[in-house]
Amino acid sequence: MTDVNATASRRELLLGAAAGTSLLLARPAIGAAPAAKIGRKSFPKGFRWGCATAAHQIEGNNSNSDLWFLENIKPTTFTERSGDACDSYHRYGEDIALLAKLGFNSYRFSIEWSRVEPSRGFFSNAALDYYKRVLATCRAHHIAPAVTFFHSSAPLWFAEAGGWTNPDSPALFARFCDRAARALGADMELAFTINEPQVNQVFRTIPGASAYFRKQDAAEMAMRDTAAKALDAPDFAAIGFPDFARTTPNLVAGHEQGFAAIKAVRGDLPIGVTLSVTDFQPGTEDSPYQEVRQTAYGEWIESIKRAGDFTGVQSYRMIRIPGKGKALPPMPPIPFVKPGDMVGNMSRPEAVANTLEYIHTATGKPVIMSENGLETENDAYRIWFIDRAIASLHAALEKGIPVLGYYHWSLLDNYEWNRGYKPKYGLVAVDRETFKRTPKKSAAHLGKIALANALA
Ligand code: FCB
Repeated sequence: MTDVNATASRRELLLGAAAGTSLLLARPAIGAAPAAKIGRKSFPKGFRWGCATAAHQIEGNNSNSDLWFLENIKPTTFTERSGDACDSYHRYGEDIALLAKLGFNSYRFSIEWSRVEPSRGFFSNAALDYYKRVLATCRAHHIAPAVTFFHSSAPLWFAEAGGWTNPDSPALFARFCDRAARALGADMELAFTINEPQVNQVFRTIPGASAYFRKQDAAEMAMRDTAAKALDAPDFAAIGFPDFARTTPNLVAGHEQGFAAIKAVRGDLPIGVTLSVTDFQPGTEDSPYQEVRQTAYGEWIESIKRAGDFTGVQSYRMIRIPGKGKALPPMPPIPFVKPGDMVGNMSRPEAVANTLEYIHTATGKPVIMSENGLETENDAYRIWFIDRAIASLHAALEKGIPVLGYYHWSLLDNYEWNRGYKPKYGLVAVDRETFKRTPKKSAAHLGKIALANALA
């Protein structure tokens, strides 16, 4: 593996000097276990504290993307259109300044492929310049940019050509990575190739969920057929396309070729993929949860062993897998969750340590919590959750798991894909008419932890 630390720290010095400031904090060594350096309550020096967002969910008017097209046809699986989203395309300066003011030292956001390569083979210098300004704004606020190259939305031309079912898709993605890295790589601190390439598969490994997903997949295919006819593009496929046997090999190759393309430009930049990691736990003594984990993550763990300096772990839920034997004692109730609320009951903060440990042990590489958060309108519940999630992360560090940072999903109440604007994950509320940002109490709460670099 490339020694990313030695070169990265040299680069930090250069960047810091160029900006006339000691811009970036000391970074925990990638590959080393920082456990020895943590206190009873404190986190390693240089630990990354940030919020995560994605272009399609916050920028607004991402009208050259496949998802925009799907949001605007009938039948569609989207409950509403993304429209202006949070207008972060124009308000990124305000968002980044707010992150810094709250106490964070990093920002995970994505660059939008459909803006950078609006038609096949044409790369927009204006779009690349736009993201240069976003990166420069991060630097000006001492915020380390952690950049995702593909977060669910693709250019419409890519979907028309079959999306990730197309055998050329890995090379097309790698070409985009190369161009974007050449224009923007110098200002990045961390990079992620693809966000949660296996999220839909993970959901389908949940025992008992197959009837629900059969219905959802049928709706997805009906939407795809409408798009294919409207565009006269019979191969049309966007990210929710349920034929995983066709998409997964290309997504794996896309990650690996994208990784190589970015590395070729900036060998010292730490690069990983992010995985959606449900914390599968035993529900009975004879639970087949290990097999479920293997089905859900095995292929990607092998890919990460081949290509990845670290892994982004995205933790939102714990699911207990029953076998045929006697059920294990029930989990303690969560004070804010009503009995029978499936979604709320899955939001177990202790899943943070479990998922970090599992992925680190399986891959042998450092991990970063690239997304973790809670869907709730009750900010007191979010604060309750944050305290326990961060304590869980600290426990993982104490066990010697090399965890490089924590990114909360999300900075803003944003566009949650098929479910529209209803789910509230943000530390900051956004007025849907004026786009005014109003930080919730949870924003100050997590910001304070970030600034102190220690448990409350
Ligand atoms: C993750 C996605 C992210 C967001 C959260 C709630 O699976 O990566 O974009 O939608 O879920």
